Amino acid sequence: MTATKRPKLVVSTGAGISAESGISTFRDADGLWENYDVMEVASHDGYVRNPALIHQFYNDRRAALAGVEPNAAHKILKELERDFDVYVVTQNVDDLHERAGSSNIVHLHGELTKVRATDDESLTFDVGYLDRTTPDTVIDGHHVRPHIVFFQEDVPMFATAAELASEADIFVIVGTSLAVYPAAGLLGYVRRGVPVYYIDPAPSRVPAGVTVIRKPATEGMAELARLLTKEKNDR
Ligand code: OAD
Repeated sequence: MTATKRPKLVVSTGAGISAESGISTFRDADGLWENYDVMEVASHDGYVRNPALIHQFYNDRRAALAGVEPNAAHKILKELERDFDVYVVTQNVDDLHERAGSSNIVHLHGELTKVRATDDESLTFDVGYLDRTTPDTVIDGHHVRPHIVFFQEDVPMFATAAELASEADIFVIVGTSLAVYPAAGLLGYVRRGVPVYYIDPAPSRVPAGVTVIRKPATEGMAELARLLTKEKNDR
């Protein structure tokens, strides 16, 4: 008997997958970028101008993360590992995919629960949820900054994510407005003929050839899991 190869399911997630956990998205009504100036709190220039403000902004996001839980969408993604080789590529800086148990996670925009040395990008430190940092914080002899990819900075994990997208047998996009590059361009690396699903209750643009599941992530992921299981059983 020959073992059948498990399909590679690559899932690109954005803020919408964590919305039902109680984390604000960025560009929806009352999203974070309506209440904060993105160039002040999330750009490289903003960081150079006022690093204390940026530390404070991410300290607050990190503390808020302590009070939320993964939702059914994160959990279904973990459960899909039973039948698929699942790779999550997320723009989110929360740790809800980790807490739901997903095995393979690439964070394109960094991680809230980490800071990194200002003199060595490769040196990261776990700070958990409640530690507050300032520009004067020193860990193991290094000044630190949030482990976040600011606007105007390179996205070092993009090459890894693009390679995963190019290897996908099924590609899924969940809860992103596809407004921020290079993340929004991942779809361009998916091979022709590979099925692509996009779960979002209010997608701002729908790329050609994509099957849209116009539902919140929890319902949409349940529907996707049903669809994929049916297709697998029909094969
Ligand atoms: P956006 O806020 O731009 O888009 C959120 C998307 O989630 C929208 O398309 C919503 O329709 C959708 N949405 C809302 N509620 C949902 C739900 N319950 N289920 C599923 N989808 C839902 O967030 P992102 O596209 O993730 O980067 O933003 C990309 C990047 O812009 C972020 O990583 C962040 C931000 O600036 C940095 O800060 C570096």
